[in-house]
Amino acid sequence: MSIQQEKIKELVERRASARLGGGQKRIDAQHSKGKLTARERLGLLLDEGSFEEFDMFVQHRCTDFGMDASHTDGDGVVTGRGTIDGREVYVFAQDFTVNGGSLSKTMSEKICKVMDMAVTAGAPIIGLNDSGGARIQEGIDALAGYGEIFERNILASGVVPQISGIFGPCAGGAVYSPALTDFTLMIENTSYMFLTGPSVVKSVTGEVVDQEQLGGAAVHTSKSGVAQLSAHDEQEGIRTIKKLLSFLPQNNLGTAPERPTQDPVGRMDNSLNDIIPDNPNKAYDMYGVIASIVDDGDFLEIHKDFAKNIIVGFAHMGGRSVGIVANQPRVLAGCLDINASRKAARFVRFCDAFNIPLVSLVDVPGFLCGTHQEYGAIISNGAKLLYAYGEATVPKVTVTLRKSYGGAHIVMSCKQLRGDVNYAWPSANFAVMGAEGAVGIIYGKQLKAETDPEKSAALAEEKKREYNDLFCNPYQAAKKGYIEDIIEPRNTRFRVIRALESLSNKRQQIPAKKHDNLPL
Ligand code: HXC
Repeated sequence: MSIQQEKIKELVERRASARLGGGQKRIDAQHSKGKLTARERLGLLLDEGSFEEFDMFVQHRCTDFGMDASHTDGDGVVTGRGTIDGREVYVFAQDFTVNGGSLSKTMSEKICKVMDMAVTAGAPIIGLNDSGGARIQEGIDALAGYGEIFERNILASGVVPQISGIFGPCAGGAVYSPALTDFTLMIENTSYMFLTGPSVVKSVTGEVVDQEQLGGAAVHTSKSGVAQLSAHDEQEGIRTIKKLLSFLPQNNLGTAPERPTQDPVGRMDNSLNDIIPDNPNKAYDMYGVIASIVDDGDFLEIHKDFAKNIIVGFAHMGGRSVGIVANQPRVLAGCLDINASRKAARFVRFCDAFNIPLVSLVDVPGFLCGTHQEYGAIISNGAKLLYAYGEATVPKVTVTLRKSYGGAHIVMSCKQLRGDVNYAWPSANFAVMGAEGAVGIIYGKQLKAETDPEKSAALAEEKKREYNDLFCNPYQAAKKGYIEDIIEPRNTRFRVIRALESLSNKRQQIPAKKHDNLPL
């Protein structure tokens, strides 16, 4: 064998060894927990044969606390680039089989390198987390490594899409990298995120809680809202990440790829002409409206289990990627509350940062009231959504289906927040509040003064009728130019797509500033 061939053989062996990470025993242990390895995950995520690995031979430099003998090529993270459906992405996947995927300084350098490359190339970053957190033996070096990653998450925010998959533990300060990214997906029952684990919680607060209850996928997708997506298993999680990516552009200077469809732009849906119940207090399902108007009924919902009174997610309309924001009359009558405002504001801002037009479907009776909401700062939180819509310069097409009352009317992409095209169904009504409340305030004293209860009730009914005739229709708004048109519900798909087409070259600026001061 020539010297050159010997060296090639050594390379092949080194590569094979590096690919084994922490060794077959640890790989088996990973599998026995129902988890895939870092490389198996990347194999599912990326187009076959597209993965190009970087820094496979990087080793940690720590010699403290028993670390000197435990060098492994790659040091607990697999990094590189590849393609998903032919589109460039940069990836890192932590390898739990090497020191529990814990973050060393060299691991952070590998991750930072692909993050920097992604920003330079204008391509999304996908990180698959499975780690015991900061490598204990490296002390401040490990913490510095996290700091380097966080800073890059911040600088890349709004420049390239950042997606985090939580495929195992993600504890301590490590949770802040996913929290800084655009989307976090968790795997049910095998992943968890928390600042301090169950044992610390018990010693500090006395609270007894297990990992799942403290920071499992169900907790973060439904209670905290920290994670936007979850999946039953890793395969489904990877499929969801790929699907999410299909709605997104490569970076903030591009637009999302168009998706050809056989679904006719002019498809009418007669069922929409019957969807609004006669009783204004009766609910209907906004999912039905969304499914009816988007291409092929295909909708990727974000934050599905969190603040269900508002629905947000991605779809295509006429082949174009759009962000849908819709009140859900079935939950809290579609009122805006703290969590709904936070959820929708973040989504609107993401869409605006990445040139994804916004389609808003409005049926909102107002903000949720009461001490719980006021003490929790519904004022500041509601202002987030108001701010997000008002700041957004992407095309904004809004359809009001039924109620659009009070402050919530303004928040939900009204004309004055630079809404581009605002339509209303004939069932829409725009008012400061509903008839019941309005009559109580304006005629309350008169109604109380009336000693005959029948007369009082009759007067209340008469005033409600008068109020409804006056305000509870779309014609007042149309008369004053606050909406562009009143449309037949069954035509909604066509009208929205045509509006989006007309706005495809929209140009709008916000005043020059260092950055805004969103009411956080
Ligand atoms: C070094 C670690 C490690 C860590 C795990 N390992 N976490 N090594 N630093 N942080 C090693 C273990 O010693 C073990 O090595 C191997 O990884 C697998 O770990 P196990 O404990 O055997 O696995 P498992 O039973 O599945 O438990 C996983 C775990 C547990 C729940 C993640 O390892 C754990 O609690 N680790 C510590 C978590 C933590 O508190 N991290 C610090 C968070 S604070 P051997 O060789 O024995 O197999 C933080 C600050 C970040 O991260 C600040 C950023 C600003």
